[in-house]
Amino acid sequence: MTGRVGRRDGHAEAVLRFFDERAPVWSAKYAPDGALMGRLASLSDAVGRYVQAGDRVLDLGCGTGELTRALAKGGLRATGCDISPQMLRRAASERGGCAGWVQLEPDWRALPFTSAAFDAVVAASVLEYVAEPAAVLAECARVVRPGGVVLFTVPDLRHPVRWAEWLAQVPLAPGAASFSVRWNRYRAYLRVSRQRHRHRWWLAMSASAGLRPVRCPRRAARSPLRLLVFRRADLTGSQAVTAALIVDAGRARIGGAARFLDEGSQR
Ligand SMILES: C[S@@+](CC[C@H](N)C(=O)[O-])C[C@H]1O[C@@H](n2cnc3c(N)ncnc32)[C@H](O)[C@@H]1O
Repeated sequence: MTGRVGRRDGHAEAVLRFFDERAPVWSAKYAPDGALMGRLASLSDAVGRYVQAGDRVLDLGCGTGELTRALAKGGLRATGCDISPQMLRRAASERGGCAGWVQLEPDWRALPFTSAAFDAVVAASVLEYVAEPAAVLAECARVVRPGGVVLFTVPDLRHPVRWAEWLAQVPLAPGAASFSVRWNRYRAYLRVSRQRHRHRWWLAMSASAGLRPVRCPRRAARSPLRLLVFRRADLTGSQAVTAALIVDAGRARIGGAARFLDEGSQR
């Protein structure tokens, strides 16, 4: 592949700066009373449903590496990668039994791993920041083995927090709220967290990458993030061409019609 994700308008660099600045405080979110502690448990459980001890897992956009280390602790060969040097430096400062930490170019187009290198890929709260989710999903599908799983979370548009995001786009009177540090932080987040799509859009993007949806556990409490789980399909050459044509002909429609794999029949 050629070209680089997000180079056109500097989006990838803006995302990198955003997370480099937040790196010093990111781990605190995973403290026992931190905002992300519950998420760590639910994501580890979710990944654990689809893998076996010793499986190779890539944590794409690993941040400070809490999930990567939790997966390694659970007996998986976990590798973390990220575009933010500051996030990754903190992740790598504690090896935690992980297989490795990999620095990505901010506008990477190809992941630096061989095809089918992993049994599972997880991307927790990452795709909302990338300029071209379809290109990233295609790479996730390439580096996972046929039949392997790809799990990712995306903003859930059904959650009230997401409705508030629309309101935040409404221009305020000049000067209003600009004094508020929290408001400015929120606006900065919305500038880099761009990808807001319906469920069927994510299904269509994943389908075009050769990923087929798998039923996944429902979370007890409504969350602003939705977990989606896929398996890399084993398409023959002609099936792959047909699927690509169908997806091109009507991305939204194929997303709505995507069938869930029966998890019971997969293992
Ligand atoms: C919201 S944080 C989530 C971090 C970690 N997954 C977690 O759940 O704690 C998003 C992470 O994705 C990384 N990221 C953003 N765009 C990326 C890309 N294109 N490739 C890899 N990592 C990316 C950021 O640097 C940041 O560390």
